Parts: sequence; structure tokens; C-alpha cells
Amino acid sequence: MELRAHAKINLHLHSTRRRDDGYHELRTVFCHLDLHDKVFIEPLDGRVELLSDTRLSVEQDLAGRAALALRQALGRPELGCRIRVHKTIPAGGGLGGGSADAAAVLRGLAKLWQADEATLFKVASELGADVPFLLDGGLALARGKGEILVPLRTSMAPLSLILLFPGHPVSTPTAFSWMDEDGLDHDEEGPGKLKTLLGALGGSEPGAVIQSVYNAFDGCVSRRQPRVAAAMQAAKAAGLTPLLCGSGSTVAAFGEGDFEHRGLREFNPQRASLAGFSGAVSSCGTKR
Ligand code: C5P
Repeated sequence: MELRAHAKINLHLHSTRRRDDGYHELRTVFCHLDLHDKVFIEPLDGRVELLSDTRLSVEQDLAGRAALALRQALGRPELGCRIRVHKTIPAGGGLGGGSADAAAVLRGLAKLWQADEATLFKVASELGADVPFLLDGGLALARGKGEILVPLRTSMAPLSLILLFPGHPVSTPTAFSWMDEDGLDHDEEGPGKLKTLLGALGGSEPGAVIQSVYNAFDGCVSRRQPRVAAAMQAAKAAGLTPLLCGSGSTVAAFGEGDFEHRGLREFNPQRASLAGFSGAVSSCGTKR
């Protein structure tokens, strides 16, 4: 079985409060990208094997952990599988690469091991905040840690963007601690900006969507990571609108500007598109 594990970006992200469990209560709009890893799954008796470009072990890699967690949740220790992961999505870039692989593994194993949707979703939520969205991808508004999802629709064609790689991964917990330091754990501007984006997604003007993207991590991360600030500045100089991907460090740049601009070259620019505008990844997560 071959599956596509799609990257995601957050077209909007803000925190309303810090929760007692240490997580942030988020309001975010997820969209999957055409950029994807490939995941191959074969049946195997009794053991879970993983061969990934990450070179991590089954127990360390989120893709392997997804298989082990699903087997445990099903209470069927005799189940097994062989998983291979070909990485294209860069790690530590805020594009949800590890979560995408885990979600694809869950989708594939749900077929192989006949797991129901509720079990799948519970295991996904426990693996990480981005995993439940990536089970189906598409375009969705999320609350909670990111796991309470409401699907969104837009009639707009998928927007093109360019991904810029500043070259320094940013750890997600560290980025959240910067958000707290900057007082953005209770983001007062966030709700208004979210409303504007949802309105723009309901319209037919790509420019209106681009003007209303917002990520509360933009300022907190770029103030502390000069390379991220430089990538954002280069995007602006090319006439593009920059947006941090998740907690960074990848910067997405949108707009009608110059994708070939000289100033972008040092950030290994890569074209991508907001594939989630066209709907979910096919329900079994397999190749479309
Ligand atoms: O769930 P995930 O493993 O992706 O989260 C990584 C870290 O990011 C968490 O341990 C937490 O520190 C932070 N986080 C958060 N609030 C969220 C999601 C993640 O504080 N909603």
C-alpha cells in the first residue's frame, strides 16, 4: 500500500489561553499542501518494522509510534506491519512532516488492521496536535490543542506559494514559550483576524485571503531568529506576503510578486500550493 503524507500550513493561528495541562488553547486554520512524503505499508506477522529516511527507530519516529499506539489501542499484539517512509517534507520546519507520516500510517493500518474511525482519531490526538487534521487534510478550523476540527470549504482554486527555508529548525515547545514571553498566549487581536480570514475564504478574491493570513508566531519567532526575519524580509522585498509555517522555521510567501527574485535564492525556495482548497486527501489517505 502506498500513501501520501501531506504537509500542512496554518493560514491562521492564535492562542486564547494557556491551559492547566501545559498546552495552549488554539484557534487555527489548517490547510494541507501538495508537498508530501511517501509512506509504504506491507503486512507482517507479529512485529512492527520501520525504515525511514529519518533513520529513527520504531519507538522514536512518530510514524513507528503511530503503528505501536494503534496496535495497543486495538489490544491485538499479534498484529504487525513493515513501514517505509520516503521524506520530502523537511523536519523541524513547522510543516507537520512527522505528524503527516503518522497520520498516513494510521490511515493505512486502519485498512490493514480494520480499525474504526473513533479509535483512529483517539490515537491520532494522543500522538500530537497536528495528527488529527492530517488524517484527512483539506481545509479546517481547529480548536483545543488543534484536534477539535470543523471542515471548511472554499470555491477558490488552490493558491500558489513559495516555501523559504531559513536553515535553523525551531522547536515547537520553545516557540510556544516565546509566545508566552511576548504575552501572546492571550492574543487579543487574533479573533478579529480569524473572522476576516473566514470571510475572505468564503469569497472569491485570492488577494483578500492573502491579506488576512495571520500567525501569532510570526513576530515572536522572527524577533529571536535572525534568519527567519531575513527570509520574511526577502519575501517582502519580492512583493510577497510572508507567513511562518506553524511555529517555524519555514516561511511561506504568497502573492503576485516575483517568485524568481534574487533575494529568495539563499533560502532554497520551493514552490507549493494550498491543495486543501480542493478538499480532503482521499478518505483512505492512499494515492490519488
Ligand atoms: O502535540 P505536539 O507534540 O505537536 O506539541 C508539541 C509541544 O508544543 C507540546 O509539548 C507543547 O509544549 C506545545 N503545544 C502547545 N499547545 C498546543 C500544541 C502544542 O503548547 N496547542
